[in-house]
Amino acid sequence: MNIAKINSLLAAIVMMMMASCSNSETANNMSENNAIENNALEVLKTRRSIRAYQDKMPEKELIARIVEAGTYAPTGMGKQSPVIVAVTNKETRDRLSQLNAAIMGRDIDPFYGAPVVLVVLADKQYPTYLYDGSLVMGNLMNAAHAVGLGSCWIHRAKEVFDSPEGKALLKEWGIEGDYEGIGNCIIGYTDGEAPEPKPRKPDYVHYVD
Ligand SMILES: Cc1cc2nc3c(=O)[nH]c(=O)nc-3n(C[C@H](O)[C@H](O)[C@H](O)COP(=O)(O)O)c2cc1C
Repeated sequence: MNIAKINSLLAAIVMMMMASCSNSETANNMSENNAIENNALEVLKTRRSIRAYQDKMPEKELIARIVEAGTYAPTGMGKQSPVIVAVTNKETRDRLSQLNAAIMGRDIDPFYGAPVVLVVLADKQYPTYLYDGSLVMGNLMNAAHAVGLGSCWIHRAKEVFDSPEGKALLKEWGIEGDYEGIGNCIIGYTDGEAPEPKPRKPDYVHYVD
């Protein structure tokens, strides 16, 4: 074999090694992406509404991660119409519970003992505010599940923050503008087992191929 042949053989070997390196990099990226996807789909499918909580405050860092995930929900034209009020103060949490129960005309804790309430409100000046706020609620609940906490959407935020007492709270929190209460995402450590999901209705999905 002459020098030229040896050189071209060496060049071919180097090219093959480089290609195999970049293939395994791609394969790694793909399996990483698959892992994220599988994990995300698992979280979405296994999240359940939790209605019993331990008397234990979740770590601030976990709450911050959940809230951050909430802020990354899509919003109409990217206007970020919602705001999130993360309530860990027991007095305020109890006040919100009381106002919520009063809307139902009942003397119960509609927050099922959860120590944290993430109130989502959205600015009504944006036509998509209700959708935006609902997507934030979805992100919060799924993120809570992803970090190992229980959550549940508790309704009547609209009525609470339309009331004079609710408006007074918004003022206290420095939230000014035409905000509507979208939902309360209660958060905490699940007490006991999460419930099983109901079977999905057979005609939930219609494929049009
Ligand atoms: C808009 C909305 C309002 C809800 N309000 C309440 C509520 O006030 N109290 C409650 O216990 N659950 C509430 N939920 C939770 C639903 O009851 C729950 O999502 C449903 O039963 C399905 O259960 P899963 O979340 O475990 O899949 C609400 C959910 C949504 C989406």
